[in-house]
Amino acid sequence: MTMVKLIAGNWKMHGTSEDLGEVRTIAEWSKKFEGAVEVALCVPATLIHRAAEAVPGFLIGAQDIHHKEKGAHTGDVCAAMLHDAGAGIVIVGHSERRDAHREADGHVKAKAEAGLGAGLKVILCVGESLEEREAGRAVETVGRQVDASLPAGPVDTGTFALAYEPIWAIGTGRVAEVEDIEEMHSAIRERLVAAYGETGAGVRILYGGSVKASNAGEIFAVPNVGGALVGGASLKAADFLPIVEAGAD
Ligand code: 13P
Repeated sequence: MTMVKLIAGNWKMHGTSEDLGEVRTIAEWSKKFEGAVEVALCVPATLIHRAAEAVPGFLIGAQDIHHKEKGAHTGDVCAAMLHDAGAGIVIVGHSERRDAHREADGHVKAKAEAGLGAGLKVILCVGESLEEREAGRAVETVGRQVDASLPAGPVDTGTFALAYEPIWAIGTGRVAEVEDIEEMHSAIRERLVAAYGETGAGVRILYGGSVKASNAGEIFAVPNVGGALVGGASLKAADFLPIVEAGAD
């Protein structure tokens, strides 16, 4: 089965209206690879509306979502609001949120279900710490996260994706060895198939953690790698577009 890779940029807490030019350039150039790769930019909540208006037809996303539909949740944003602002995709369970906001697996699962239920595409993140990897518990840890955070099925392979992001590789310049990526993605694949049957074989599993132009091709050649979730290298079109191009190969 050929799988169109999903290359998503995660701008984290970077970006104001001054950066809309980068969004426009990324969207414009990504059109060249339409059909060969799917591209998304998950910008800060404050920029979603302007970004979506600036690049109609291009996939703009959010980096988090509240799991409830509405209510007394100061500072939070629900699926309908993201939709209304123009988002088409949302990241849930990023390790920075699991850590800084104490988001547990059950909470992440509820967020994924809220996003999918509202018609948003969802990228669900998992990943082990350096301590867990060094203790030989990486596959076990991530497996547990996957089992406990997957949204209830059925899921659609076009709207639901997983991202494996080893915490120690995020923003550090350190990338997991291709053998380790292969081992982890294959373990995640088994769990997806166990959870969703045949559909699980088609769910894209992105790799994230210091992906850049110089390593993207090698990472995309690893079996069961269905794309990338890119932090730092997604902020500038000049850094991000070669990754998009590698994903289209
Ligand atoms: P970097 O690409 O900056 O390592 O960030 C990865 C990440 O956390 C994407 O969600």
